[in-house]
Amino acid sequence: MSNYHIKHLEEYFQVYNKSVNDPETFWGEIAEENFIWHKKWDKVLQWDFTKPEVKWFEGAKLNITENCLDRHLITRADKTAILFEPNDPKEGAQHISYRTLHERVCRMANVLKEQGVEKGDRICIYLPMIPELVFTVLACARVGAVHSVVFAGFSSTALATRINDCDCKMVITSDGSYRGKKTIDLKGIVDEALKDCPTVNTVLVAKRIKSDITMVANRDHWLQPLMDAASTNHKAEIMDAEDPLFILYTSGSTGSPKGMLHTTAGYMVYSSYTFKNVFNYQENDVYWCSADVGWITGHSYIIYGPLANGATSILFEGVPSYPDYGRFWEVVEKHGVNQFYTAPTAIRALAKEGSAFPEKYNLSSLKVLGTVGEPINEEAWHWYDDHVGRNNSPIVDTYFQTENGGIMLTPLPYITPTKPTFATLPFIGIQPALMDENGKEIKGNQVSGRLCIKFPWPSIARTIWGNHQRYKETYFTAFKNKYFTGDGALRDESGYYRITGRVDDVIIVSGHNLGTAPIEDAINEHPDVAESAIVGYPHDIKGNALYGYITLKASGKSRDEDTLRKEINQTITEHIGPIAKLDKIQFSDGLPKTRSGKIMRRILRKIAHNESDNLGDISTLLNPEVVQSVIDNAL
Ligand code: WTA
Repeated sequence: MSNYHIKHLEEYFQVYNKSVNDPETFWGEIAEENFIWHKKWDKVLQWDFTKPEVKWFEGAKLNITENCLDRHLITRADKTAILFEPNDPKEGAQHISYRTLHERVCRMANVLKEQGVEKGDRICIYLPMIPELVFTVLACARVGAVHSVVFAGFSSTALATRINDCDCKMVITSDGSYRGKKTIDLKGIVDEALKDCPTVNTVLVAKRIKSDITMVANRDHWLQPLMDAASTNHKAEIMDAEDPLFILYTSGSTGSPKGMLHTTAGYMVYSSYTFKNVFNYQENDVYWCSADVGWITGHSYIIYGPLANGATSILFEGVPSYPDYGRFWEVVEKHGVNQFYTAPTAIRALAKEGSAFPEKYNLSSLKVLGTVGEPINEEAWHWYDDHVGRNNSPIVDTYFQTENGGIMLTPLPYITPTKPTFATLPFIGIQPALMDENGKEIKGNQVSGRLCIKFPWPSIARTIWGNHQRYKETYFTAFKNKYFTGDGALRDESGYYRITGRVDDVIIVSGHNLGTAPIEDAINEHPDVAESAIVGYPHDIKGNALYGYITLKASGKSRDEDTLRKEINQTITEHIGPIAKLDKIQFSDGLPKTRSGKIMRRILRKIAHNESDNLGDISTLLNPEVVQSVIDNAL
């Protein structure tokens, strides 16, 4: 008997030990007893972190959508699979049953086939949080196409980069999207992006805001008429365990975004097993993850994990502040939400508006609260616990990354005693290690170091699309034979982990990973900018905010600084998206550099943190004289 659902702490330790001592037997049992397969695997696991290569359940045949949909038709056909809550509450929620979801996905799969999509093709999905997003993701998986969902807040340039990186042949989008009081012209952004995307020959357009858009002949098609005409029968493509399922881009500290490639069977098993245990999901629960499907949390914990478990998963189109700051709690009350999963930045933004909003609503259905995406500070943790959970719902502080596919460190609710700001213990099968700067593992408790993982788990990304060498260098070279997360962590006296933050040039702003180099590249496109350096500094709501130090070309020196600031943020918005706009922009005659000409971010970071009296030795700089003027002009 496998332990699909863990019920108490002793059992957690037993199962954990089994998963570590005999991973193949353990994961083989979980996979065999809880999923449907067309053919069983030949080998549970093959791995070599030096290549690196990881294969789970090789030789097995399956389709993930049969596990997420078809098998539930026997016992859960009328159960709500996706509960769509629109941006405007007046529009009314939509309950999409497993039967209807299956039907729509089959129709959509047939549409894809009719449009010439073949197994292995890459399809870019650039949609708001509407039901079509779920249908198209699953339809891609059903026909064996690789979906690449791009968050619909990215700009046309960022979209084009992602489309071209994996040579997508189709884009699925909508006429526009709602965001609180605003509408966004998504189709216009796609049209702009496609000027530079030679591989795209088809665009399918869902109707959402009913705006007047231009349709390009022979390229653009409205989705709904195609869906209406398509058959509701579709036989799922039979996939190999290691066939690609999706690509999802994440920012690196340097260079272009990394297309993390996830494969089929291992991802299914791990996202499903973590979902069941981390949220203690029970058959009639209503579960809500407020993330966007454009991020890994949405892939694993709005779509695949919940649906593989036959859960009811809320798809929320709106924002926390519209029509007012009570929106989340109104949704919790209206749908009787049992598990609520959100990001620290949302909690901080809501806490700032006071406790009167959550107090207005009946939140007694809540059983589990979750957070993800960045470290949660103690104050936000307590506000969530006091005013949302009313000290009655355990908080699961879940740590993971796009690269991981599923939750790595987390308490199990009602099982693991929680501790504010600690992601506590490794999930089943996860073997963390803290490493020192010389590459040695730091054993024992009350220590801190760089967080690595020593052994593969089923949903580890297999490569970076088109660049295996970069995959190896980014994750497997800093520490021999280990996966390096890029995060620092500490382990307390009882073995609990706390993530202390990134140790590279990735800055997490409102839960979004932003690499400094791509933002600097964008800024440097401005004709008046000579050079730029971005650092993070602490921010009450966003966690971190961006501080840019910029030197201007002669052409910019006579210009009005505020106009320049606006233009620079506009340039960033065009190249990346509004999420990467700078909060502070300081113009400077020079930037501190090493003798080899590298910008000394360490010094700039200290200045941005208001710690300029503690800069350490700056005498070895190429230009120590600029430091004082940077300090004097700090914002
Ligand atoms: C950070 C998000 C502290 C971390 C699912 C990681 C966290 C990066 C937590 C990945 C947490 C995520 N506590 N930090 N509970 N969860 N992070 O790829 O720095 O968007 O490396 O995946 O977010 O962000 P990504």
